[in-house]
Amino acid sequence: MTEAERRTALEAIASEVRACTACRLHVGRTQAVPGEGHPSTEVMFVGEGPGYNEDRQGRPFVGAAGSFLTELLGSVGWKRDEVFITNVVKCRPPDNRDPEPDEIAACAPFLRRQLETLDPALIVTLGRHSMGRFMPGARISQAHGTTAPVDPATGAHDSTVFAMYHPAAALRTPSIERESYEDVARIPTVLIESRDRRNGNRLARREASLAAAAATAATSPIGPVAARPDAHGDPDDQLTFF
Ligand code: URA
Repeated sequence: MTEAERRTALEAIASEVRACTACRLHVGRTQAVPGEGHPSTEVMFVGEGPGYNEDRQGRPFVGAAGSFLTELLGSVGWKRDEVFITNVVKCRPPDNRDPEPDEIAACAPFLRRQLETLDPALIVTLGRHSMGRFMPGARISQAHGTTAPVDPATGAHDSTVFAMYHPAAALRTPSIERESYEDVARIPTVLIESRDRRNGNRLARREASLAAAAATAATSPIGPVAARPDAHGDPDDQLTFF
């Protein structure tokens, strides 16, 4: 996909999100929050769900947690608009309660399509609800700062997930704030490793298909099709009329 095609696909998903009535969360929303960022980024951040400010503005992570996320990104020299930021649920749960499993399930096709479109090398989960989509069964106190391969059923192929605490938790607890800075500092290296792994996998797949094609050609009973017996005769004989 070209960048323009990815942008168009992301806008189409966003329009569907804004019109979605698939779960009860649409009833209380001011605006849905599909997500935003660079259509050619290699990194996608996935939070939990919009809060008060996000619901008002229709944009992810624009409140206090968002300011801290922007600071974390800045600490590794990145800007918000170089990555893509979205949430597991795209409409605000009332009173900022946790999203219910059926709400997460109803919204999952949007996240899957965003992942298919962006094809990120790295997915960074923010908080346990997001981590639960990519590292089922993991505990955030142990899994934060660690990576795992991503299940292709999520929509992301050959991708790596890196778990982080939710920025709002860091604002509440100084030790989590410190650990969040330590975790985010690992992201550039983790991205390079993920990029190398997927490039290596692509090369291996290409070599395997070339080897398979060569093996097929070698055992083919008819030989190369370009060497047909009439190929060197009268040029008119080589024309095909339909
Ligand atoms: N918390 C989230 O999980 N997502 C947002 O967009 C804002 C706050």
